[in-house]
Formats: sequence, C-alpha cells, structure tokens
Amino acid sequence: MEQTLSIIKPDAVKKNVVGKILDRFESNGLRIAAMKKVWLSRAEAKAFYAVHKDRPFFDELVDFMVSGPVVVSVLEGENAVAKNRELMGATDPKEAAPGTIRADFAESIDANAVHGSDSLENAEKEIAFFFAKREIF
Ligand code: CMP
Repeated sequence: MEQTLSIIKPDAVKKNVVGKILDRFESNGLRIAAMKKVWLSRAEAKAFYAVHKDRPFFDELVDFMVSGPVVVSVLEGENAVAKNRELMGATDPKEAAPGTIRADFAESIDANAVHGSDSLENAEKEIAFFFAKREIF
C-alpha cells in the first residue's frame, strides 16, 4: 500500500467538479485517507512548490495556487503514486490522454485541475506538509 498527496486546484474547485474528480480516484482503486479544503497563503504556496523556485513559471504558479481554495487529500492504494499520475494525465492538458482528469477538466498548464506527488519520497514530504499523522485514517 502506498499513500500519495492530491491537490484539486482553484480552477477545478471554482468549476464545482470536486466530487467528479474524487469519484475518479475512488472508482479506480484509491481510497481517501484524509481530506480538507484550504485557501493557501502565499508563503504556504511558495513553501509547497519550493522545488520549482528557480523555474520561470514559479511566480505564476504561486499566483494561481493562492487564487482560491483547494481541496487536499491523501490517497491510499496499491501503487497510489503512479495510479494517481495515470488518472491525472500529462501536466499540460493539451498533451493529456483522453479520459484523464486533466484532459476532461483542465484549461491550461497553470490551471491544470490537479496536482499529484511525483514519487513516494515526495509524497511523504507533501503529506506531512498538509496533514498531521492523527488526521490520516
Ligand atoms: P503541478 O503538478 O502542480 O507541479 C508544478 C506546476 O507548475 C504544474 O503542475 C503546472 O501547473 C505548473 N507549470 C506551469 N508551467 C509549467 C511548465 N512549463 N512545466 C511544468 N509545470 C508547469
């Protein structure tokens, strides 16, 4: 069993498709082990995406992530990290395979509906960023 972190980003929350996205996870063998809705501060968004701080898109990414509330969850299941990435589709929705979350709900590489941890190591860090152990079941 693995755990991974999912963020439903401000664009998808504004579009009111949170339930539809969570259904993709649950219908494909992932269980929601923890969940909350939060509006990130600029400092929190910068800290969460610190790995991208030198990339040219960093400021836009932070602006976008603080533009509204997000829904953060811990997803659990066999190969949860890879499974979640497969369900999300490519980062750029134009390149996302048909039927993936980003193909169906995302508009652009910034407003790309969801974030998912890219490795087990990062999943652990990202889960700890948002959740205390006692909030994960
Ligand atoms: P996410 O999986 O949340 O991780 C970093 C985010 O930066 C990514 O999704 C995109 O929304 C955003 N981003 C914007 N431009 C780029 C880019 N050129 N390459 C990768 N990520 C980008």
